[in-house]
Amino acid sequence: MTLEIQNVTKIFPGPRRGFFDRGEGFTALENVSLSVQKGASFGLVGESGSGKTTLTRCILGLETLSAGSILFDGADIHKLTPLQMRRLRSRLQIVFQDPYASLDPRMTIHDIVAEPLVIHGDLVRLDARQRSERVLELLLQVGLTSAHLFRYPHEFSGGQRQRIGIARALAVRPEFLILDEPTSALDVSVQADVLNLLHRLQKELGLTYLFISHDLGVIRYICDDVAVIYRGRLIEQGPVANIFDNPQSDYTRMLLDAMPDPDPDRSPFRKAAAR
Ligand SMILES: Nc1ncnc2c1ncn2[C@@H]1O[C@H](COP(=O)(O)OP(=O)(O)O)[C@@H](O)[C@H]1O
Ligand SMILES: [Mg+2]
Repeated sequence: MTLEIQNVTKIFPGPRRGFFDRGEGFTALENVSLSVQKGASFGLVGESGSGKTTLTRCILGLETLSAGSILFDGADIHKLTPLQMRRLRSRLQIVFQDPYASLDPRMTIHDIVAEPLVIHGDLVRLDARQRSERVLELLLQVGLTSAHLFRYPHEFSGGQRQRIGIARALAVRPEFLILDEPTSALDVSVQADVLNLLHRLQKELGLTYLFISHDLGVIRYICDDVAVIYRGRLIEQGPVANIFDNPQSDYTRMLLDAMPDPDPDRSPFRKAAAR
């Protein structure tokens, strides 16, 4: 599955001042174009507030576009019928930043991971027993065990919760994952383990990633290509090695300078890669 984002602009309306009067709109994305090829791991990096989550929401069809278009395998996602959109959503899953907020505290891990299998029950035809088998398979795949099945989210650490979020995203065997800062809420020591898992899953399952982060170190470990976004505009994109060795913009140089540990031998991402 390929994703093409073509000249996307998103302007949020300004605050209402009167019946016909609105304040000036806020341009969260301006003329953004990028494409993610099947099997690729594409990074989107930029600091907080630069428009990364807005782009995610546009890709998921949760926001209308002010201009431009978003195509999956050539089909414009804002022109799909509800049924086509549901099909697409089973092929395209998202892992959120905050594993606390994205898991329902009243549901067991089993039910959380099984939920997409129920929602997409018309596409993934499994009876209750097959669903439970699939849930266990998924937990093992992300490094959890059968002992975790009937526990609740609050009983888990942040890293384990993010593993649960990943298992849920993988349940319906998607081709494409959007990972919106999947490790940003985790301790650095745990980040490396979760990144390592995501890296392995991508290779094993042949997934395509759009990997969003404010941290170029994370992008370097996971991604082949990267686009740098600043205040809603892409300021450069290309192979990760080029961006690291020969950044073209001051902003990218600033992001590189802000990397938590510039010594690669001491970086947790380096350790994860060597494992
Ligand atoms: N629904 C909205 N209405 C108005 N402004 C918004 C809305 N959603 C996001 N924004 C603004 O768009 C900008 C980009 O936000 P976001 O996409 O969440 O950035 P990031 O994910 O890179 O941190 C921010 O300034 C944010 O305040
Ligand atoms: Mg965000």
